[in-house]
Amino acid sequence: MGCIAIFTDDPGWHGKQLRLALARRGYRSEYVSLTECKINLDGSGMPVYIPGFELAMPDAVFVRGVPGGSLQEVVFYLDILHALKIMGIPVYNDGHAVERSVDKGMTSFLLKHARLKTPLTWVLKDRSSALAIAEQELKNGHCVISKPLFGSQGEGVRRIEKTTDLFWLTSSNGVYYLQRFVDCEGQGYSDIRVFVVHGKAIAAMRRRGKSWLNNVARGAKCEQIILDSELSELAIQATHALAMDYAGVDVIKDAEGHYNVIEVNSIPAWKGLESVCDLNIADVLADDLIGRCVNQSKPPLQMAVS
Ligand SMILES: Nc1ncnc2c1ncn2[C@@H]1O[C@H](COP(=O)(O)OP(=O)(O)O)[C@@H](O)[C@H]1O
Ligand SMILES: [Mg+2]
Repeated sequence: MGCIAIFTDDPGWHGKQLRLALARRGYRSEYVSLTECKINLDGSGMPVYIPGFELAMPDAVFVRGVPGGSLQEVVFYLDILHALKIMGIPVYNDGHAVERSVDKGMTSFLLKHARLKTPLTWVLKDRSSALAIAEQELKNGHCVISKPLFGSQGEGVRRIEKTTDLFWLTSSNGVYYLQRFVDCEGQGYSDIRVFVVHGKAIAAMRRRGKSWLNNVARGAKCEQIILDSELSELAIQATHALAMDYAGVDVIKDAEGHYNVIEVNSIPAWKGLESVCDLNIADVLADDLIGRCVNQSKPPLQMAVS
């Protein structure tokens, strides 16, 4: 029987769904914390130690969470993901995809580089330049969003609406990430989450926030929407630009009716989305991981550990 490591410190609903989906396909799974993995180069065993996999390496690893920590700790967790991939073990999503998407500055750069529509964005260290940018945006009639470079679930995202708000403009660990606020179409505030798996947009929902912050973790309501081809194509291209196996893509349709990609998540939640669509998303992910990645990775894995 095959076995998959699910990297997570908090399996919760998603971990359980994945475990069930993998079991339905004949795979055992183990929850593993990246904090307990080791790089062990004394020649006594596998170069990467994963608790629970002392006798045989997993057939694949599913990355459901990468813990925060010091720069060294996070680099170490990414080293584990990179090393496993080099050994020929499928890593879903891989370390490079996680690295690029966790960093909002690089995400924005890659989206723009791929010529995808994404809001005007500035990433910089100098406070007076950051203030000048925000001031100019306000003068031109735009609100400005300030985000932590490594944030998620709406944490630390602020909106600068007037000159007096500039007083509160703070960097996140020394770096300013500023973005032009996109006024969304329609009544109130909402954005769209599109779920893409292996180059296919499989589901989408509207997230309607209590205010302009539309994260489900911040209380946004999920509504069913029909995926149109323009939205699907944009989300697929955004996922491709960040080279991900699967992604949760955040999109805002602006007042002129144009879609803007806000961010691309490499470890997206799907509980809210599943509540408004008819899919079992863990089944789709397990099919993609096993069918496309695991079954094609056998030869390199043998070579890497022999
Ligand atoms: N440029 C923007 N214009 C309008 N709303 C935004 C913008 N950037 C972010 N938001 C709102 O804030 C939410 C969180 O921002 P996001 O970049 O997705 O960070 P997080 O990783 O915290 O989810 C988005 O879902 C959206 O509702
Ligand atoms: Mg988001």
